Amino acid sequence: MNTLQPAKYPVKVKAIWYDETLRQICWINTLKLPHEEEVVCSNDPERVVKAIVDMEIRGAPAIGVAAALAIGAYALKIANTPLEAFIDEIKKSINKLWRTRPTAHNLFYALSRMNKTLDESLRSINDTYKLAEKLINEALSIYWEDVQANIKIGEYGAELIPDKATILTHCNAGALATSAYGTALAAIRIAWYNGKNIRVIATETRPVLQGARLTVYELMKEGIPVTLITDNMVGMVMRKKIVDLVIVGADRVTKDGYVVNKIGTYMIALAAKRNNIPFYVAAPTSTLDMDRTIDQVVIEERNPDEVKYVLGKLITVKDVSIVNYAFDITDPDLVSAIITEKGVVYPPFQLNLAKVLGT
Ligand code: MRU
Repeated sequence: MNTLQPAKYPVKVKAIWYDETLRQICWINTLKLPHEEEVVCSNDPERVVKAIVDMEIRGAPAIGVAAALAIGAYALKIANTPLEAFIDEIKKSINKLWRTRPTAHNLFYALSRMNKTLDESLRSINDTYKLAEKLINEALSIYWEDVQANIKIGEYGAELIPDKATILTHCNAGALATSAYGTALAAIRIAWYNGKNIRVIATETRPVLQGARLTVYELMKEGIPVTLITDNMVGMVMRKKIVDLVIVGADRVTKDGYVVNKIGTYMIALAAKRNNIPFYVAAPTSTLDMDRTIDQVVIEERNPDEVKYVLGKLITVKDVSIVNYAFDITDPDLVSAIITEKGVVYPPFQLNLAKVLGT
């Protein structure tokens, strides 16, 4: 395992890291969780493309960081190739990673930084070994910035969690979706580390069950009390008054304040509004897309088999017609605040997000 770990809080679960000895990116294959903790390492960008498309690596910050580390590790691997071929290979790999998943902004944020690093370095450097060093250093900066963002989001978010609160979360916005502690789950972790007596309700998150498989696994490893519900129980637990607040992550937050997150988030936000429950979104600024309005965002549609099969078992009539949106859109007026590493942003989001980014 990577020895570089922040001392401030213990890391009990990790999704991705860079192995300095192997000079490879390593990840936990989240498809095998919670039953098997399979570690995969590679310096082949094609392998990382497959891992992102198949969702061995998933979660917005994690796929961005993984893509950057894949480029950095590959640059080191091919550093002995002639300059033209080196540049061509790196550009081709960036393009392939760019096309893996369309919705999470962090992927494009990280790959744009890698591309820029290459272009800017080429102005003064033509030694492929030095270029490779620049690329791996940029990838590691993206990784470490995400770790720091997790910590700050956790600290700001924890302040919004009262003692004895029950927090509902959706999907997995935890360590298994980021470089360290998560976003929504970082807030929960740090509230817990600070001694707050809290409980979590995790939705199972159909179709691929990130809540049941990943969030439950991650929280139980920490010893944080967690109760699993099916997605369609959200309204009932809110009506029963056993939810004090909701915290979810985000794949993209647009400049007009719309939140794109795992399918089902919108229904949770609507139910929260109706029941006067605060609905918080935790996201690093690498998730903020200040260039697009919501109608310009591509919402990923995935393989119909994810709906037809549960853990490999066909649960419906084989030829039924399927729609499988991976994400949905939550309107800004349903969001109480967005917790970023630069502070908690309250409405009006269009104005206050721009302020937080200094744009
Ligand atoms: O399809 P996934 O599992 O990649 O979707 C992940 C989510 O929707 C998460 O909630 C989001 O990326 C935030 S992760 C900190």
